[in-house]
Amino acid sequence: MIYSIPMESFALVIFGITSNLAQIKLIPALYDMEEKNLLPADMTILGIARREMSDQTLKEYVHKVLHLENVHHQHEIKEDIFSKLCKRLKYLSGEIQDPALYKKLQNYLKHDNRIYYLATYPDLYHYIFENLQKYKLNLQNSGWVRLMIEKPIGSDLPSAKALNQLLLKYFTEDQIYRLDHYLGKETLQNILTFRFANDIFEPLVNKDFVDHIQITATEDFGIGRRGGYYDQVGSLKDVGQNHQLQMLAFATMDAPSRFTNEAVTKERIKILKSLVPMPNKVVFGQYEGYNKEPNVDSNSTTDTYYALKTFIKNDRFKDVPIYIRAGKKLKQYVTEISLVFKNPVNRLFKNLKSGDEPNILVYRIQPNEGVVLKILTKLPGHGVKLQPEYMQYCYRIDPHTHFVPDPYERLLVDTIRGDQTFFNDAQEVEAQWAFTDPLSKVRGKPIIYKVGSWGPKEADQLIEADGRKWLEPSMEFCRI
Ligand SMILES: NC(=O)c1ccc[n+]([C@@H]2O[C@H](COP(=O)([O-])OP(=O)(O)OC[C@H]3O[C@@H](n4cnc5c(N)ncnc54)[C@H](OP(=O)(O)O)[C@@H]3O)[C@@H](O)[C@H]2O)c1
Repeated sequence: MIYSIPMESFALVIFGITSNLAQIKLIPALYDMEEKNLLPADMTILGIARREMSDQTLKEYVHKVLHLENVHHQHEIKEDIFSKLCKRLKYLSGEIQDPALYKKLQNYLKHDNRIYYLATYPDLYHYIFENLQKYKLNLQNSGWVRLMIEKPIGSDLPSAKALNQLLLKYFTEDQIYRLDHYLGKETLQNILTFRFANDIFEPLVNKDFVDHIQITATEDFGIGRRGGYYDQVGSLKDVGQNHQLQMLAFATMDAPSRFTNEAVTKERIKILKSLVPMPNKVVFGQYEGYNKEPNVDSNSTTDTYYALKTFIKNDRFKDVPIYIRAGKKLKQYVTEISLVFKNPVNRLFKNLKSGDEPNILVYRIQPNEGVVLKILTKLPGHGVKLQPEYMQYCYRIDPHTHFVPDPYERLLVDTIRGDQTFFNDAQEVEAQWAFTDPLSKVRGKPIIYKVGSWGPKEADQLIEADGRKWLEPSMEFCRI
């Protein structure tokens, strides 16, 4: 086992056990944790939803979920592991708004240590908090109580502040685990190790050596059946405000004084608060046919693509432009951060073919996960011919070994351990909204782009106006 997890008994209460989130993320993560012996012997999983089900029906439901095709499990579900997981499963049906549900919950909960996981609609949160308090279920009298709450925290800065204030009425900050599952990704966490456990690159990550930074999070698929949710949100709020800003923070933050929650979060926040919103440097797009997707308004102006330029207002990255883009139904499925280095004017081989290509450090979050450095090498043979190549560290050596734990597994384990390093605190979320709110306000009508393209040409013009261009993400490295 990799971690030393305190194997104290506890109850995990999932509000919304039948949610899409529980199906595709939580239940598979819990199965994996069972398989890896990461769950203490005396741990109960109590699922709550409206529909009538017995404990037995819940078990059958979980069995079905684990065998769904779209669930991340590529590996076999072992019946003995499933039976172990089943012993923990309990179900309580009821309306979240109804105090009677909490009365029943009080009788059910035998554990002093509790995690409440909110896998339900944000409109219902306040009923949960009020009723937990009413029945003293939020108190940490003889154990710990922790709350896991999903992004989005609010839909803009005022609503995020209101939700944070509401949370603090019932819980203390050290009980609140705000999830952005990107923070649970090994590929993101490894950025900190790569930067701060090795000292050779860190002196180069600043305005003297870095020409610009690009962050890309593109998908080659559309919104699927999530129209009802997505149409209210759009790409900037769905992935820009949270995942991509966190990626930027990991790649540019200063070294924390120690590897603790307080020190790491402090450095992330410093970056997020230094970001300069540029409402005249943002492009919003929508893929052709989006407004005919199920549960989408036929006149929808929701963005399925955005591209922006920003700067970090600090001395280290003064005048280093940062370009960020994300979208759906684009040419490629890829998430990465690229630091494009400056070319020295006196580079020896600059007059050769490819001789003026920059070195690029790529943190590839997915797919072909890795950290790679694009360099120029000598093509073997007589004379000097240059060839761009990748020096690479790759993650998935064998896709059938579960070498990279799922982010939900990581974050559940961290919550059990009481480690908030890879969760957002209130200030962090608010700094993210403070950056994106001025951009959302200028959205207007998005530009329609072709399915399978790289997005609207206006996004190309945004970066080309500075004499740069979007990088074509390479699939040449870390191939399985
Ligand atoms: N889905 C994702 O991929 C995803 C990703 C990131 C974050 N999130 C966040 O995760 C949360 C859940 O989203 P989701 O899309 O997974 O939700 P969902 O599929 O619509 O599920 C909602 C859940 O809440 C339960 N529920 C609804 N109203 C209730 C009530 N009045 N009383 C008791 N239970 C009630 C439902 O139970 P019944 O089945 O009995 O109605 C169901 O289990 C949201 O905060 C969302 O923003 C979701």
